[in-house]
Amino acid sequence: MRMYDIIMKKRNGGKLTSEEIQCFIEGYTSGEIPDYQVSALMMAIYFRGMDEEETLDLTMAMAHSGDLLDLSAIEGIKVDKHSTGGVGDKTSLALAPMAAACGLRIAKMSGRGLGHTGGTIDKLESFAGFSTGICREHFIRQVNEIGISIMGQTADLAPADKKLYALRDVTATVDNMSLIASSIMSKKLAAGADAIVLDVKTGSGAFMKTLQDSLALAREMVRIGNGAGRRTIAVVSDMDQPLGRAVGNALEVKEAIDTLRGQGPADFVELCMTLGSQMLIAGGRAGEEGQAREMLREAVFSGAALEKMAEFVQAQGGDPRAVRDTSLLPRAIHVEPLPAKTDGYIQSIQCDEIGICSLLLGGGRETKESVIDLAVGLVLCAKVGDYVRAGEPLAYMHYNEPGRAAAARERFYQAYTFGQEKPPIPALIHEIMGQA
Ligand code: URA
Repeated sequence: MRMYDIIMKKRNGGKLTSEEIQCFIEGYTSGEIPDYQVSALMMAIYFRGMDEEETLDLTMAMAHSGDLLDLSAIEGIKVDKHSTGGVGDKTSLALAPMAAACGLRIAKMSGRGLGHTGGTIDKLESFAGFSTGICREHFIRQVNEIGISIMGQTADLAPADKKLYALRDVTATVDNMSLIASSIMSKKLAAGADAIVLDVKTGSGAFMKTLQDSLALAREMVRIGNGAGRRTIAVVSDMDQPLGRAVGNALEVKEAIDTLRGQGPADFVELCMTLGSQMLIAGGRAGEEGQAREMLREAVFSGAALEKMAEFVQAQGGDPRAVRDTSLLPRAIHVEPLPAKTDGYIQSIQCDEIGICSLLLGGGRETKESVIDLAVGLVLCAKVGDYVRAGEPLAYMHYNEPGRAAAARERFYQAYTFGQEKPPIPALIHEIMGQA
């Protein structure tokens, strides 16, 4: 089988067979097929698309391109959760201990990644000493002992996707539905969970900007997951303004801890309840949503979820005192209010602009080598639909370097629009797919 023929077939609008997909994934992973041929194929797929069968074949080939994590030594149904990402998205930090406190086994692999803030792993490193560089034995033992562990994504998990994603990133072929769905799902399938709950974001801070595209991506991923024999549920949720109020690594950890204390912002709490109840149902811990929500509420108000967070942090070498006293988390030198310049209702907050402010302050990575400042970011005081008077703070900016703050301050104000009419409040949950 020649790569040239595979490229030409797709260029001409043909359908690739399982063998052809398998051949290019194996050849690319081993280094036999060069980047330039795979780039050409990615562009052909971008323009010609792939049908459902090809997308599932691509996902399975990528999932099997490296190690498959074997979670069989962990008792019970293992449920994974994945978010397509957004601004202020600290959901895993609160949800993992909440679900574990309800008896679900959380064996999760997370990443760092480029972006406005770090990934879950970077955020967790706000706890001094915390490490996700643990071996598989430690990971599995910890889940069996305390019900929760999060480890860093290993290079040998879906290596084909790792290579392909890096190539797509520099060849303008990321934003294709089949390629995104197969990329995300290949990693989830390789990570070994029996059931997967997906949080597919939609809006200005999301990968998918329109509801139509987000629904299509969610549908595709649910189909792939179920086709691969894993129960898969997708929640399509709003990312047209930041989630919760905190944007920035340690600031988000603090907000997640506040949520575990029963003092989280309403939208963030509701998202945790929605995703958490789907996880408890998929994991066989609850029969229906009302019961699941009650279990999650009880885990928070009894203190069990906060206790689980402290246990988890300690088990991975972190300082658990910071769970009870968040003043021990990294803190910025300067905290400055950003006052509203006009009276009015907030009509919109361009979500990705707020993310860029956090990045400009040093809270995210521009390149793989960038070092993150865990302390910096923004805490919003008002959200879409709130009325503010000129001079009242719209947000507090946490920063260490005054030079960086100037750029972020200017960018911040560009993110807001105001008006005299109260706008409709955007729905937080748009759809839930794949429920039993
Ligand atoms: N995230 C991924 O893991 N893959 C994509 O293709 C896009 C987002």
